[in-house]
Parts: sequence; C-alpha cells; structure tokens
Amino acid sequence: MKVLIIHGPTLNLLGKRESGIYGKKSLEEINKGIRALASQLSIKVLMVQLNSEGDIVERIQMDDYDCLIINPAAYTHTSVAIRDAILAVGKPTIEVHLSNIYKREEFRRKSFIADIAVGQISGFGSDSYLLALRAAKSILSQK
Ligand code: DQA
Repeated sequence: MKVLIIHGPTLNLLGKRESGIYGKKSLEEINKGIRALASQLSIKVLMVQLNSEGDIVERIQMDDYDCLIINPAAYTHTSVAIRDAILAVGKPTIEVHLSNIYKREEFRRKSFIADIAVGQISGFGSDSYLLALRAAKSILSQK
C-alpha cells in the first residue's frame, strides 16, 4: 500500500506562516506524525512539498502510488491542471486542508478538486492529514 502525500505551495512555511490559521507545527513535525501513523497502519508513504503547479502535475503523473492525499493549498481554488492530472491518472484521491476553507474568504469555498476526490478533509489542523491517512487505509483495504 503506497500513499503519495503532496503538500502544495507555501506549506513549507508552516509553523511561521499565519500560525493562528495553520497552527504552530512545522511541515517537518507534521510529516513526522504522518510517518508514525503510516508505520502503525503498514502504509508506505511518499511525501513531497512542491511550490509550483507544473511540478505538482509532474509528480501526480509519475503514477508510482496507489492513493493520493493532496493539500493543493492555493491551487485548490484555481488549478484545472492539477484536476486534469488527477483525472488522467485515476487514483483514489483525498483532498486535505489544515483550515476549514468554508469558514474563510469566499474565494476559498471553490475547490477544483473536491468533486473528483473520494472526499475532502478540511479544518482539523495537522490532524486532517492523519484522518486522510486512515481514510486511505480504508479505501485501499476495500480494493
Ligand atoms: C490550505 C487552504 C488554502 O485556501 C490556502 O491557500 C493554503 C492552505 C489549508 O491547508 O488550509 O495555502 O490548503
């Protein structure tokens, strides 16, 4: 069971970036928690943080994973390219957000990914990733 986790633009600054919204944990700390749960669940995780849209599209197209967990960050609200890459590869996809995107500015309520994902987890801080990993385990166990 191989799960690819993509952290989108500016998530490399977690911990320093708008910590009232995104929390005080760094991406490294979040990844550490993800790795610990993945090992408990016997899931192999591949994790990457990418700032540019093209790099995200290329990583999705590598097709070396069974399930995708993606926090597309700002590209959530703009990227037809990421949506199309996910559709082309056809792997079960879980959309993740640290913040509750429906509680914030109007423009964040639109996601180009939500309707092609298995589901979306939004608003649980770094736990959103852990909930997504449990969802991935459940999806892959049913296959
Ligand atoms: C985010 C929400 C997005 O609207 C924002 O652009 C981000 C982070 C989140 O995890 O809450 O960069 O995806």
